[in-house]
Amino acid sequence: MSDLAALLQQALDEVAASDTLAALAEVRVRWLGKKGRFTEQLKALGALPASDRPAAGARINEAKQQFVETIDAAQASLERAAIEVELSAGRIDVSLPGRRPGEGTVHPVTRARLRIESIFTQSGFEVATGPEIEDEFHNFEALNIPADHPARAMHDTFYFPDGRLLRTHTSPVQIRELRKGRLPLAMIMPGRVYRCDYDMTHTPMFHQVEGLVVDENVSFAHLKATLQGFLQAFFERDLQMRLRPSYFPFTEPSAEVDMSCVFCDGQGCRVCKHTGWLEVAGCGMVHPNVFAAAGLDAERWTGYAFGMGIERLAMLRYGVNDLRLFFDSDLRFLRQFGAA
Ligand code: FA5
Ligand code: MG
Repeated sequence: MSDLAALLQQALDEVAASDTLAALAEVRVRWLGKKGRFTEQLKALGALPASDRPAAGARINEAKQQFVETIDAAQASLERAAIEVELSAGRIDVSLPGRRPGEGTVHPVTRARLRIESIFTQSGFEVATGPEIEDEFHNFEALNIPADHPARAMHDTFYFPDGRLLRTHTSPVQIRELRKGRLPLAMIMPGRVYRCDYDMTHTPMFHQVEGLVVDENVSFAHLKATLQGFLQAFFERDLQMRLRPSYFPFTEPSAEVDMSCVFCDGQGCRVCKHTGWLEVAGCGMVHPNVFAAAGLDAERWTGYAFGMGIERLAMLRYGVNDLRLFFDSDLRFLRQFGAA
């Protein structure tokens, strides 16, 4: 057993001589590892007479315990020292220039919407919004689209199990505003709309801005002048606009508004499907049935309405040739638009 005392002393000396964590780890393996010297001592117990084993085992364990405490303490102190070194080396140099937080940008669709709002509010329009989850009454029926109307099929509607739906256009906001009965009015109503549709110029969620002007003696000429004035202000450049006779159940007469394609200067390309034109809006004179559904006198009131696709306007203004880029959240695309 004097052997054991000498052995322990040797182990403790090795701990004391280790001045790095790596050296200490080696000492730990040398003494406590599978083939470590304390481990060997315990294995050798089998050679002793059975009656001597418990006492001898207890002594070995005591020595081992003392070694473990010593090496653990040595390791903790080396680790503390290492942290101290790191902290003093990593002192903050307050004279270095700061790291600027990344500057956020306004999404191009939002940017286009703000631009549209600013142009219309400057000419006296108010801005109103409505819910994205709508009912059939506001999205269809009150807009003169009864359940069996073929126009419902054109809307590619997302329905909820309870019969409510994601609005397919911003026109239901017309009904909500008309039913408040505050006439005359001039409003725009921007927001998200949803349709089951997906390609270069269609996405399942997109934005529209509805326009509605109701007064006595409103004419189609007012509508045309408003659209023309707006597009001129919005694009600040010469783009052709054309009105194409069309059909909407909630306007009569109705038209679709096309802009000459900026990508091919009207020559025809993939984006405009080789027509030279991009459809940016639908419009027309408010249908008498819409006034009736809102409880208004269709003999007295006249009005025009339009619904523009905000992404389409943004594509044309910012030269974005694929609508889907707006929704990919690719920072390389979004950063090109800068701050508001
Ligand atoms: C309508 O939604 C009518 N509510 C517009 C309207 C309002 C007509 C008031 C008369 C009076 P339309 O489905 O054509 O019409 O859509 C209007 C515009 O939204 C289109 O001209 C187009 O610019 C844009 N648009 C339509 N579908 C998509 C789509 N899937 N992705 C992106 N833009 C779209
Ligand atoms: Mg259309």
